[in-house]
Amino acid sequence: MNYQWYPGHMTKARRMMQENLKLIDLMIELVDARMPLGSRNPDIDELGRNKARIIILNKADLADPACNRMWADYFKTRGIHTVEVNSKSGSGVRSIQSVVREACKEKIERDRKRGILNRPIRAMVAGIPNVGKSTFINAFAGKACTKTGNKPGVTKGKQWIRLNKNVELLDTPGILWPKFEDQQVGLHLALIGSINDDILRMEELALELIAFLRSRYAGTLCERFGVEEDGEDYAILTDLCIRRRCFLKGEEPDLRKASSMLLDEFRSGKLGRITLEVPEQGAKE
Ligand code: G4P
Repeated sequence: MNYQWYPGHMTKARRMMQENLKLIDLMIELVDARMPLGSRNPDIDELGRNKARIIILNKADLADPACNRMWADYFKTRGIHTVEVNSKSGSGVRSIQSVVREACKEKIERDRKRGILNRPIRAMVAGIPNVGKSTFINAFAGKACTKTGNKPGVTKGKQWIRLNKNVELLDTPGILWPKFEDQQVGLHLALIGSINDDILRMEELALELIAFLRSRYAGTLCERFGVEEDGEDYAILTDLCIRRRCFLKGEEPDLRKASSMLLDEFRSGKLGRITLEVPEQGAKE
């Protein structure tokens, strides 16, 4: 399957990102905990050069907890602090502040030596579409924050959200493009629902998911749907149609309907906490 992205938007996104980068000390990069390398932007290290950085393993609630820990170690050995977050519930968000201070230690020290005291750290959130940037900003900023600058609509300048006396956050996230040229990454992005389903062949995607689950999370399909896992992937999908009563006219199995159902259940976590990429694999990429 050829997974398409929208390269037309790339130039504009990159330009905006570069403009905003001039204003900040810290880049808060959001990745999807189910595929932390594949959901990173290919140029992020270049874009974030000379900035303090932290990585948010977002949607950690949907990812395999053991893999979350492996990814946290993976990035730690590369000098990047991570925080596991569920932006939807807010879990993990509170521990970000201390990680921010740690990541910005050098900058704070540099400021101190120059006699600059109490200058807030300015941060921005960046990530590929659908990774949870808006949800994260709402959870991180919370209710207590005050917006600096004028009211929206009146000002043409940037809006900063004052999180506390030490940190200000740009209220618009940087939107980055994923590694859309890599087919394996494309498949994973399609599986987590980051690529518009309209352009995908759902049955093909469901068969890929079935193959993945059988090899990495054996027993999951059997437990959830009662299907036998030792047949062909296609036979399992057909069996799913029967178990979930997905039929076309004349009792013909509705493979597309069963595929959408399977993908929906995977994406919403109903099949359990599942991670698509593990560090060893990712490191080879
Ligand atoms: P974006 O700005 O990066 O494009 O992403 P956005 O915040 O719009 O979030 C995309 C989807 O991911 C939303 O779901 C959002 O609720 C969900 N999401 C964000 N963070 C988390 C998280 O940590 N855990 C889980 N489980 N989901 C998260 P949606 O389907 O578009 O809407 P809805 O389900 O909230 O109605």
